[in-house]
Amino acid sequence: EADPAHLPPNVPWWTQYLGDGVAARPYGLPSPHEAHVVRRNVEWLTATTESSVNFTPIQDLHGFVTPNGVCFERHHGGTTEVNPVDYRLMINGLVDTPKIFSMEDIFRFPVESRFYFLECAANTGMEWRGAQLNGVQFTHGMIHCVQYTGVPLRVILDQVGVKPNGTWLLAEGGDSSGMHRSVPLEKALDDAMLAFAMNGEMLRPENGYPLRLVLPGWEGNMWVKWIRRIEVGDQPWHTREETSKYTDLLANGKARFFTWEMDAKSVITGPCPEKPVLHKGVNQIKGLAWSGRGRIKEVHVSTDGGRNWMQARLPDPVLPKCLTCFNAEFEWNGEEVLLQSRAVDETGYVQPTMQALQEVRGVNSIYHNNSIQTWLVNKTGEVENVRLG
Ligand code: MTE
Repeated sequence: EADPAHLPPNVPWWTQYLGDGVAARPYGLPSPHEAHVVRRNVEWLTATTESSVNFTPIQDLHGFVTPNGVCFERHHGGTTEVNPVDYRLMINGLVDTPKIFSMEDIFRFPVESRFYFLECAANTGMEWRGAQLNGVQFTHGMIHCVQYTGVPLRVILDQVGVKPNGTWLLAEGGDSSGMHRSVPLEKALDDAMLAFAMNGEMLRPENGYPLRLVLPGWEGNMWVKWIRRIEVGDQPWHTREETSKYTDLLANGKARFFTWEMDAKSVITGPCPEKPVLHKGVNQIKGLAWSGRGRIKEVHVSTDGGRNWMQARLPDPVLPKCLTCFNAEFEWNGEEVLLQSRAVDETGYVQPTMQALQEVRGVNSIYHNNSIQTWLVNKTGEVENVRLG
């Protein structure tokens, strides 16, 4: 509640004192009134915080760029602290000249800066069998989107010369978790990057300082942090992260694997369980959409659980493999409303309902749940996570 002493025609106290001088905060922080905008974890989800995940507060963010301090973290062996002076990247295997690069070496290559989303394959994974977590931060917050600056991987591979039979790479992390993923050479030569910066500053330790692999549009697990070695080979390695983990068990007992591309997905980030509807009359729906296959073409929103759809606005810019903002108006008269959003990407792929996804994939999966999310706005304006059908 506002203090009447601060409202017109009174002159509030902050107009009447000499504020802090410059450099009072050499590295700035958000206003103390924004202290609720933080990463959060779900304690019962994992046995320890070192092999765990926290979630981006997407309900409180604006635009498509995630501030570095609230980018969700997913570690299998905690955050490791690397001194860039001691850091080395080794490239070996089927190459003409194996090499070891220091950060100084990396900084001497031409760099690119590009916006990409990173979504953990497990985002929304707890929701396969029914509505579980009552908050968009927890159902959809294993995602962030920043501007990466780094060297295209093809530039570095040129330095070592990939042999003609070299068709796969093994990316190895420098932390204690033994993170290894096989990456086809084709992706490495297409848009993969070795990034050292996010949103204009060096990577945060949590996100792989001083160097991480960026594989635009592909599942977050493959974006190896603190990357220390790339081996070139002629076949995939079938590591732990691509056999026992990050595969999808189907109803017939077989598993899908090497499911790299993130399918088109969207979610309404307001109203949502954290952001109830406060006013009758015109309200704004806002949300985020993304596709690992390129640009978002359209987002549709529904207020009646998917019976009728209307087109949402997509404010510029709409970038490939990047979060895209959408918004639309809805009129609330105090009745129950079922809010949904549905993304369509430039390949024509339409975000599926959970029923459609389960017909193909069963209910044993954890990863790659890109189904349409439903929020129930009840008569008091409170919002709940519900499953239809
Ligand atoms: N790389 C290393 N070396 N160790 C890790 O634990 N976690 C992976 C991937 N890269 C991981 C890693 C997983 S599962 C995801 S989803 C992303 O990093 C998360 O990146 P973030 O912590 O920057 O959000």
